[in-house]
Amino acid sequence: MFTGNLVIDTILVYLPAMVSNATPTFIRRGTPLDKGKIFIDGRRVLGDGKTIEGLIVGIYFGFIVSLSYTIVLGHYILALQLLASSLGALIGDIIGSFIKRRMGIPRGGRALVLDQLDFYLGANALLLASGFKINIWIFLVGAIIVLVLHIITNRVAYMLGLKNVPW
Ligand code: CTP
Ligand code: MG
Repeated sequence: MFTGNLVIDTILVYLPAMVSNATPTFIRRGTPLDKGKIFIDGRRVLGDGKTIEGLIVGIYFGFIVSLSYTIVLGHYILALQLLASSLGALIGDIIGSFIKRRMGIPRGGRALVLDQLDFYLGANALLLASGFKINIWIFLVGAIIVLVLHIITNRVAYMLGLKNVPW
């Protein structure tokens, strides 16, 4: 698509979404998006892990990263499509938390598949909506990269003492 190398092209397509998903982690405490509100099931709507600051940081860094290479590629429409993917990643992550709370899983609790792929599906949904044609191979290789990176980064964060659990 861009370089002809499947792995490099996949990284170029999903890097802004991955950055938007990862950078909010540096916000340890912020203003909860749900303002502390309780849903009809008696549990938090989203929980303290989804903040306004995290949303801003995620969009900001996702956009900086996408601009840095879409300008080099001279592909300005792609810059907007990747911005959409960043937004989609953050929205997907928020929807993931909403579902986790409805399942009774507390903030930071483990939800297999949902934890790893919520942002990825959100990014793909908005990429498609922005008119970006997603190649099936790029989608599949991207999903594998996301799953592997998730395992590695969480283990490293656990070993460094940044996280209390290795997932
Ligand atoms: N974060 C944030 N705002 C967001 C997304 C993430 O502030 N919109 C920060 C929070 O500090 C969060 C951390 O990034 O704890 C890691 O994100 P994530 O793993 O998605 O949140 P969890 O704490 O695991 O919460 P949840 O169970 O709701 O997924
Ligand atoms: Mg989590």
